Amino acid sequence: MKAFAVTGRPIGFSRSPDLFNKAFAAASIDAAYTRLACASAGEAVQIAKDLGLDGFNVTSPFKESIVPLLDSLDATAVSTGAVNTVVNRNGRFKGSNTDVEGVMGALHAAGVEVRGRRALVLGAGGAGKAAAYALRKGGASRVAIANRTDARAREAASVLRCDWVRAADVTDETADADIIVSCLPAGASLIEHGSLLRGRAVLDASYRGSMLAGGAGTWGYRFVGGTEWLVHQAAAGFRHFTGVEAPVPAMRNAADEFSGRDNGRDSRVVLVGFMGAGKSTVGPLLARRLGFEFHDIDWCVEGMTGADVATVFRTKGEAFFRAAESSELKRLAVRSNVVIAAGGGAVLSEENRELLASSCTVVWLAAPFPACVRRAGGPARPLLHGKDESEARRLFDERLPLYLSTSDIVFDSAAVPAGELTERIAGEIGFAIAR
Ligand code: S3P
Repeated sequence: MKAFAVTGRPIGFSRSPDLFNKAFAAASIDAAYTRLACASAGEAVQIAKDLGLDGFNVTSPFKESIVPLLDSLDATAVSTGAVNTVVNRNGRFKGSNTDVEGVMGALHAAGVEVRGRRALVLGAGGAGKAAAYALRKGGASRVAIANRTDARAREAASVLRCDWVRAADVTDETADADIIVSCLPAGASLIEHGSLLRGRAVLDASYRGSMLAGGAGTWGYRFVGGTEWLVHQAAAGFRHFTGVEAPVPAMRNAADEFSGRDNGRDSRVVLVGFMGAGKSTVGPLLARRLGFEFHDIDWCVEGMTGADVATVFRTKGEAFFRAAESSELKRLAVRSNVVIAAGGGAVLSEENRELLASSCTVVWLAAPFPACVRRAGGPARPLLHGKDESEARRLFDERLPLYLSTSDIVFDSAAVPAGELTERIAGEIGFAIAR
């Protein structure tokens, strides 16, 4: 199974897993895609290596800071100085920028002619640079960049060999522009609706509630939402990841179907991950932080059998333990306002994986192998205790794809202390993580 993810900070909101997982299914490709929560681009590259990801997407605010950390770049990444797609080629990471295709695809799908038109790009981050580059390549007669910090607009314009305007002059520039592409963070704005003239085309990169969507009816400009951009950049990313054309209709359906919070999944948080990843430590902290109940499946099985896990394994066997584990999971995974620490092997059963994926928000605590064995080598873990390292490693490697394909979001649980990790998890799952 091939393994992919999207990283950024925050990342819980991202719809990319939805688009890619549905596209993999439609194209019958054995692959899974999750969200990688990281504090920096450097951390993202490190975890991607540790997990052996075959590729990953990059979103704000890492699109530029990741550039110097990669082994090679394609022409779009070099020209824009920003990367949104990284492919692992035999352990070497190559960056590209499929936002360029995303912008062009979105404008094209909306019937917006670029050649000979005047364009204004709001925002000089990674997405803004890709937009300016795409518009220039598409033959716009003028491309100007504006940014809340003027110096960044000037700098981006010199890299992209286009114009820039001061934030204070944006209203005048807007009056002259045929196409406006906003690449500002969700909820931010540099322009007034009223300065957008009738018939102008306005594309907003954000698919999470645009400040510009509301004024289109009143002011008569053509609004193009960020979903088409998302779909087109993802389709190009799919090609980089798999070498085959993307099933675009499946991706578009996934983007359109996305319903935000649904069926109470966000009130059931399940921690999965290898033994020693920190599920039983972080679980109670997270439950307290969210005001939820905490349940540890191992402790439930111990309560049910009156014996500790090692004794259950020894006297009744692993199959008995697995059946008890599954029945406890089934009992708890329908409750509301719960944090559940699933045992490290809970994802071995397909039925459990389906239950978790369909009804819970699944957080994978993915500590690197050495940290896990260091923490979990004692007699309480019958599958590790007394085993040699290569056997433990094999178990770890076999399970990685199962954790990844079941998860909504991944954290490196060895990177920060449990308290800080808890805060990070609470912050990310505050976004509507839906599938
Ligand atoms: C197991 C993990 C353990 C426990 C049992 C089997 C596994 O739980 O369920 O020893 O197969 O990974 P933790 O992951 O909480 O250590």
